[in-house]
Amino acid sequence: MNEKEQNVMDKIVALAKRRGFIFPGSEIYGGLAGTWDYGPLGVFLKENIKREWWRHMLREDHIYTLDAAILMNSKVWEASGHLEHFSDPMVDCKKCKKRFRADELSERRCPECKGDLTEARQFNMMFKTTAGPVDDSSSVVYLRPETAQGIFINFKNVVDTFHPNLPFGIVQIGKAFRNEITPRNFLFRAREFEQMELEYFAHPEKADEYFRDIRKMRMEWFLSLGIRKKNIRFRDHEKDELAHYSRAATDIEYRFGLSESGFSELEGIANRGDFDLSNHLKHSGIDLKHEGIIPHVIEPSLGLDRAFLAFFMDAYAEEKLRSEKRVVLHLHQKLAPIKVAVFPLLANKPKLVEKARETYLMLTKELGGKPSVPIAWDDRGNIGKRYYAQDEIGTPWCVTVDFQTLEDDTVTVRDRDTGKQERHKIDELDEYFFKMLI
Ligand code: GAP
Repeated sequence: MNEKEQNVMDKIVALAKRRGFIFPGSEIYGGLAGTWDYGPLGVFLKENIKREWWRHMLREDHIYTLDAAILMNSKVWEASGHLEHFSDPMVDCKKCKKRFRADELSERRCPECKGDLTEARQFNMMFKTTAGPVDDSSSVVYLRPETAQGIFINFKNVVDTFHPNLPFGIVQIGKAFRNEITPRNFLFRAREFEQMELEYFAHPEKADEYFRDIRKMRMEWFLSLGIRKKNIRFRDHEKDELAHYSRAATDIEYRFGLSESGFSELEGIANRGDFDLSNHLKHSGIDLKHEGIIPHVIEPSLGLDRAFLAFFMDAYAEEKLRSEKRVVLHLHQKLAPIKVAVFPLLANKPKLVEKARETYLMLTKELGGKPSVPIAWDDRGNIGKRYYAQDEIGTPWCVTVDFQTLEDDTVTVRDRDTGKQERHKIDELDEYFFKMLI
């Protein structure tokens, strides 16, 4: 990361904390590396990303939802290959005792103290714990490092209850855990994060075609939610970098500014072939064939927290609006945590405050349930400062009640991106906003 990119990342981390999007995990005890807590606005933004992903995935009726347990029988990880293969090469510094990923070092010396390093050893990234009162090898369980396996072990349950024909998909959103050796770069590499995964089960002959379709469809999703084209791209994997389960893979990369090219993985799309179902069939002895074959699997897998970071970074701008400097989040209106803020022009004029409060309550009632549209109220400071504060958290519209409102029941609606203001009738506001939010 160059100095300028580091600067932007630092500003984003600071803004996320200052405005209640993301707090460092366990902060009052000095923190816990690789963990982040979502604050009030972060929860809304994250929920909005999830909702848009559900909508996108559930457009077709042959996609089934699932919410599997995080803890699973350890045999799952034996069958999936994670016990054997899910590891990173790691080296220790003999002098300062710090640990690093061997594949991330540019020289064979400790990057912190220049001490000698040990030979690389494989380090399994699954978090281990025990289930039940006895703490021995028979009670070992792992926190799942990917949500996908919960889907594979429920494949037969979905087939037996819904009898879908191929192709069909199962989607899931849930927490995943990886004991990353070097968690860093804010939400990009955490030890606890969420994944949004689709496993699409198809006839082997059709797998390549669906891989191409899904690849295209996933890119369209990011673009439709405002990610700028110049900041996102595909990168096909070379054969020697494929994961142990994968036959072909493409990453959707975002310009996080963390690598030499600037681009790093945002979402992985893999053709997992019959790897998972075949292995679970072998290890469990349960027949996981369907329509006489073991289906092949196409999997788009997106880290929700990484998506959050990409949307946040892409939206962030420091710019001038009519000679005034401002920080603004140009978030897509469907993602913005707060949709509308309502103000009285002057906080010391009771009639304006009363009318603005009425408007605020009306909008909250009309829009609050459709589908979760938070409305903010602000009567602090001057109007310019309130606009600035809403721009900084990405609120698309600010409604101001002024003296003309008292005469004709119209208000100004200010657009976040252009700063332009239009007058609208109060009783047409809910229709106006709702049209733009669905
Ligand atoms: N089921 C396939 C799978 O888990 P992956 O490429 O290891 O594949 C998929 O992970 C996505 O999960 C990544 O593209 C990334 O968005 C997210 N992800 C992986 N490790 C992460 C971490 N340590 N912190 C945040 N997100 C992570």
